[in-house]
Amino acid sequence: MTEKFYITTPIYYVNGAPHIGHAYTSIAADVMARFKRLDGYDVFFLTGTDEHGQKVEQAAAAAGVDPQTFTDGISADFRAMSDAMGVSYDDWMRTTQERHKMSCAELWKRIEANGDIYLGHYEGWYAVRDEAFYDEGELTVRPDGSRVAPSGAPVEWVKEPSYFFKLSAWQDRLLAFYQENPDFIAPSSRRNEVTSFVKGGLLDLSISRTTFNWGIPVPGAPGHVMYVWLDALNNYVTACGFPDEAAPRWGFWPADVHFVGKDIIRFHAVYWPAFLMAAGLPVPKRVTSNGWWLMDGEKMSKSLGNVVEPRKLAEIFGLDQIRYFLLREKPFGADGSLSHQAIISRINVDLANDLGNLAQRTLSLVARNCGGVLPARGAVTADDTTLQVAADGLLALVRGHVDRQTFHDGLEEIWKVIRAANGYIDRQAPWALNKTDKVRMGSVLRVLVDTIRVVATLLQPVMPDSMARMLDQLGVPADGRGFAELGVPLVDGQALPPPQGVFPRYVEPAA
Ligand code: ME8
Ligand code: MG
Repeated sequence: MTEKFYITTPIYYVNGAPHIGHAYTSIAADVMARFKRLDGYDVFFLTGTDEHGQKVEQAAAAAGVDPQTFTDGISADFRAMSDAMGVSYDDWMRTTQERHKMSCAELWKRIEANGDIYLGHYEGWYAVRDEAFYDEGELTVRPDGSRVAPSGAPVEWVKEPSYFFKLSAWQDRLLAFYQENPDFIAPSSRRNEVTSFVKGGLLDLSISRTTFNWGIPVPGAPGHVMYVWLDALNNYVTACGFPDEAAPRWGFWPADVHFVGKDIIRFHAVYWPAFLMAAGLPVPKRVTSNGWWLMDGEKMSKSLGNVVEPRKLAEIFGLDQIRYFLLREKPFGADGSLSHQAIISRINVDLANDLGNLAQRTLSLVARNCGGVLPARGAVTADDTTLQVAADGLLALVRGHVDRQTFHDGLEEIWKVIRAANGYIDRQAPWALNKTDKVRMGSVLRVLVDTIRVVATLLQPVMPDSMARMLDQLGVPADGRGFAELGVPLVDGQALPPPQGVFPRYVEPAA
């Protein structure tokens, strides 16, 4: 049986339109999902929208529509954005769906049956923008006396009856869990942050609200709706069919990787495993967090309104070009700046020059000098072997980087081989061999075709459409593009389609 692999994105709040930050986390998760599929796994890739809570209720009220109509519209827009950006999700979660309400009620009952829920009174700070409770000590007091959360979000004083989750009781088990599972939180700087937060002592967590209605009702407690984060986190098990352990997708739980932004690490790495342990469910294997895309040095966010529309960028520069840029330009866990100049430079240098020219030069020589059929290899030289060895080692290297979400390093490994192939073609000069040694010319071009094939195969998760076109031109059968098939040689003498450039240079339109 093929091994199961479960990947999730955050479910996005439907309080505003999607921006490039959301697209980024989803595209990174998509790259891993596509990579795992090509590597032979049975993948379940989940994304969707987080539709309850005060923040969404307020956004709906501001728009003058009822919350369900409001969330229907924005959820559909997030879905259209995900489709437009090539996010190959297997299920679209919406927390207002019946399956999810049922799943949340059951999770609540299990935690309650375990003795981890009690009724009390909450009095403290709450940031609607983050949908998070904060301790006084975490806040910054502004000159005007107002307080803000570490995220910069304003807080308000909340006082209401509330159910609590006995988070304090889970401190030692969480610390033991982090210790035993050093790969649970990535990157490691985040692991240290979470560990010291938990070591600092955990307060019980308020998990119901009574001052608004837009949420999932607490079973047997009229007037209480579930805290939106309990509701939201649970989406990951809802999608596996919880509580029906005979459901077709139950076998995917626990998740292999939750992709999140660094703002929501605490929810995923502290609250979520504690909820699950309290409910007697297995905990996820990894929470990996990305840093911010900044605009003029500030985090891009719906609340700040300084956002870039991903579909617009894809329209201007090309979808695959944007997907490549997002994964290549900065380390996954770090912050980075987005600018048109940086995108154009990636397109023109990495894609058009390095990769596009390599393929175009090679394939046009095959078309011109080999009668358009794939040449065979002749006697092997040391230069051939060096390139071949580099190409053969690439899958294992890139797999390691995808598993650690060090995507930019994985792409750099691929580009090392592309640069090596460019050096090889310059040294071997197959255009000159056409006059002196046709057999050797064919052999050189074949080494190049085989190298480009490895590169294009491994780049499929990042640039699916462009690499499909490149693999077509290389004569790789459409049903033979998985990683296992890299071991199957291309057929000598097969006719190749006429070459066509895959990555045009980006030329700034005249103003
Ligand atoms: O937090 N750069 O939803 P959300 C990079 N509903 N990534 C960014 C980004 C930026 N500038 N801005 C946002 C929520 N993101 C909850 C999640 S999960 C059970 C519930 C990405 O709409 C990043 O992944 O605020 C971040 O964590 C996510 O969008 C937050 O989306
Ligand atoms: Mg947010």
